[in-house]
Amino acid sequence: MVLPMLEPVAIDLPDAAATVRLAQRLAPALAGGGVVYLEGDLGSGKTTFARALLRALGASERVKSPTYSLVERYELPALTVWHLDLYRIADPGELEWLGLDALDAPASLTLIEWPQRGAGALPPLDLRIELRHAGYGRTARLSAAESAQSLRSFLTNTLQKSDS
Ligand SMILES: Nc1ncnc2c1ncn2[C@@H]1O[C@H](COP(=O)(O)OP(=O)(O)OP(=O)(O)O)[C@@H](O)[C@H]1O
Ligand SMILES: [Mg+2]
Repeated sequence: MVLPMLEPVAIDLPDAAATVRLAQRLAPALAGGGVVYLEGDLGSGKTTFARALLRALGASERVKSPTYSLVERYELPALTVWHLDLYRIADPGELEWLGLDALDAPASLTLIEWPQRGAGALPPLDLRIELRHAGYGRTARLSAAESAQSLRSFLTNTLQKSDS
């Protein structure tokens, strides 16, 4: 499904600590749940972002990359977080067993690495984060779905107007 999106907000992430800070800044805007697509090449920082976001939301257990398990679940006091990595999915049909309905239940936050591999089988996104290699660092482009009102205003009013 193609959803109307805002103009992306671009942010420089010169080192991994900057990726962590971005996740920390976004955490309050995602604490109520949502669906986040984490796009970007191998090693662009998707898991780094997800791990820092989980930490900022209060996860205390080890956050491992779901590259092999496909999905990891974190039960936080007020939120269930699903972290998916679909890199190894060859066909979106392979996702049926995952019970994708749970992913956009209320009070759940779903972080999806390699969402392109699940195209058509995933819940619609609220926030897209595109990470790119830029020299030794990375750049991020963030865009929120038109329906995700609070995220939209967070991106344009808070994130865009402050330094990373
Ligand atoms: N902004 C950044 N600048 C430089 N290095 C970074 C940045 N963000 C993350 N890294 C580093 O990039 C490496 C790969 O990060 P990470 O595993 O998060 O990538 P990924 O996108 O999840 O990769 P994959 O596609 O394999 O899942 C790590 O060593 C991490 O510390
Ligand atoms: Mg990863």
